[in-house]
Amino acid sequence: MATPIKHYLQFSDLTAGEYAWLFERAAAIKKKFKAYEKYHPLADRTLAMIFEKASTRTRVSFEAGMYQLGGSVVHLTTGDSQLGRAEPIEDSAKVISRMVDLVMIRTFGQDKIARFAEHSRVPVINGLTNEFHPCQILADIFTYIEHRGSIQGKVVAWVGDGNNMANTWLQAAELLGFTVHLSTPSGYEVDQAIAGIRSTDSYKVFKDPMDACRGADLVTTDVWTSMGYEAENEARKKAFADWCVDTDMMRVAKPDALFMHCLPAHRGEEVEADVIDGPQSVVWDEAENRMHAQKALMEYLLLGKVAG
Ligand code: CP
Ligand code: NVA
Repeated sequence: MATPIKHYLQFSDLTAGEYAWLFERAAAIKKKFKAYEKYHPLADRTLAMIFEKASTRTRVSFEAGMYQLGGSVVHLTTGDSQLGRAEPIEDSAKVISRMVDLVMIRTFGQDKIARFAEHSRVPVINGLTNEFHPCQILADIFTYIEHRGSIQGKVVAWVGDGNNMANTWLQAAELLGFTVHLSTPSGYEVDQAIAGIRSTDSYKVFKDPMDACRGADLVTTDVWTSMGYEAENEARKKAFADWCVDTDMMRVAKPDALFMHCLPAHRGEEVEADVIDGPQSVVWDEAENRMHAQKALMEYLLLGKVAG
């Protein structure tokens, strides 16, 4: 019997054991990259990347990463493909997945990527949906481990919107055994059902973002308005005014706390320049690690646990 296809549609699609493997592989693959060592396990494999929303990091990290692994990429957007002319998602999935080995999709609703995966012959990776951003949290935790070791038992403070990033942090906390301190403005809370987590054990809710940051090992935030929610921009600017990560918040966190932001960032909105450009910020490592972590992910989805 053929092995079932492994998709990566949300963080909970992999086990803690699989993450341990991916973090190890990401470190090994990064080391090869830094040493200019050729590593082409995905020679002759093709990745299709479908973008229905804008991107810098996701596009560059997947595209550069796939070439570095010896493969090639096809880049599609809503505007330059039949996806924008309402070809059914199921038909697109059937066609695209007959021609490539792997598909990465950035889109709106999670239901869309789930439907695509259901009709795909090849693994599908979530490159961001309204609900989740698993590749980002994969890279963020890899970055945390590089700087501070295991994230197990640690406290991650989330300051801001109860969005795709917050949902994914919650899934990761439940799976990998750490706690998220959540502080969101009223009306922008995380919905546990949408986040897809089983219990409230791995997170605590705080009205005041200062309290969420107290004693945290990692402080992180994201834009006030995510892609797809632009019509709410003005209302969000008012609601989120006190949810700006500043040096006072970093001061009440642990002295060796890190600051992360998935980027793009808006200095003076969700984060002060002194924090994102300050000594505790690891945002550039975080961005670079998207590529190394996703190379490990692509290798794993296509080849399983390989040595080398
Ligand atoms: N963090 C992130 O996913 O960035 P892009 O939107 O630039 O891909
Ligand atoms: N929450 C943001 C992340 C961007 C990488 C968004 O969805 O727009």
